[in-house]
Amino acid sequence: MSAARAFEQCIAAGGVAVFPSDTVYGLACDAGSEQAVRRLYELKGRAPSKASAVMFFELGAALAALPELGEQTRAALERLLPGAVTVLLPNRRRRFPLACGSDPQTLGLRVVSVPALSGVGVAVLQSSANLAGGPDARRLADVPDSIRAGADLVIDGGSLPGVASTVVDLRRFEDGGIDGVHVLRSGAVSGAEIAEALAGQFHFNPATYMELIREDLPAYDELQDAVVDASGDGAASILELGTGTGETARRLLVRHRGAALVGVDESASMLEAARLALAGLGSAVSLHVGRLQDPLPPGPFSLVASALCVHHLDADEKADLFARAREVLRPKGRFVLGDVVVPLDRRDATASLTPGYDKPDTVADQLRWLSGAGFSARVVWERGDLAVIVAGAR
Ligand SMILES: C[S@@+](CC[C@H](N)C(=O)[O-])C[C@H]1O[C@@H](n2cnc3c(N)ncnc32)[C@H](O)[C@@H]1O
Repeated sequence: MSAARAFEQCIAAGGVAVFPSDTVYGLACDAGSEQAVRRLYELKGRAPSKASAVMFFELGAALAALPELGEQTRAALERLLPGAVTVLLPNRRRRFPLACGSDPQTLGLRVVSVPALSGVGVAVLQSSANLAGGPDARRLADVPDSIRAGADLVIDGGSLPGVASTVVDLRRFEDGGIDGVHVLRSGAVSGAEIAEALAGQFHFNPATYMELIREDLPAYDELQDAVVDASGDGAASILELGTGTGETARRLLVRHRGAALVGVDESASMLEAARLALAGLGSAVSLHVGRLQDPLPPGPFSLVASALCVHHLDADEKADLFARAREVLRPKGRFVLGDVVVPLDRRDATASLTPGYDKPDTVADQLRWLSGAGFSARVVWERGDLAVIVAGAR
């Protein structure tokens, strides 16, 4: 029997297991069984008033179990987990009360990626496999004899990193943003790495977007004009990719009066600003929170347009997006792409780029991918590291 299956069976039967996590050896039991939790605490000599964490072996299962978490907190968990981090979350629904010690309003969450236990579907209450106050166990032999003898299952995962998880308090993150985050225990992941992961979540702030983008890209308005010019006239249905605060969408709807527009963007707060900006234009507007890497709204559309968003996709993702854009276009439809590109002469690059988030490619590569996707494409406007390409479905 696989270790994962034996682990699940042990937990389901109310047992206590010693198991290798991604940091140190841990003790796990059914998070909903008072009896099992009491045994686990007794094995460790830990006071029942002290909290433990609930551990999942897959992030999707953790997010599904906590549907009440806010959008920002969920996005933060996607950035931090799985990983050697214990996050403290607000627990208004008082879930997993046996793991919360004397504070039912706070839930400690771990999501680990442990090859030997991959596929484990149950959530467990877990604590480190040591006597209360004792050293963490890096090898199975470091787990005290009394704990190994008292456990119902012992899984040997060899030698582990040996540094406990970093404990990060996200209880005030939803409203307080990055300033509301505190590292309560330093461990395997540094505070700087936590800060960097979470700061990356706030690339665009709707309140400051227009001011900052015009500062960063002095040709911003020219690029928008070029996108609108390239979009032609009389489009009846538009799909706009990376709507942001709605500036490109607004300009397109002024040109294509009465067109219906579907906008997609991964940021709900940017789309909230777009909703306000696009109200009152007399057009049917439908905005969706989603990533360009995910399936596109089905269409068919007479125009697919995007300004300053596609460069966030890597090369394969761009080629794939172009193929999917082709599929949702009407037979004589048009695809307009205005974006940051890698210029022929790299000294022409002026846009400030964040490594890992901004991934521009050359115009030549993008023309090739568009051609491969069934478009005839040409460049209609260029300025340094900005370009507008118009592509017709062949
Ligand atoms: C620079 S803004 C462009 C907004 C608008 N088109 C304009 O030109 O003003 C880029 C937008 O792309 C969104 N974005 C970045 N990566 C994305 C992705 N992979 N999928 C969907 N939206 C993404 C961001 O949330 C942001 O709102």
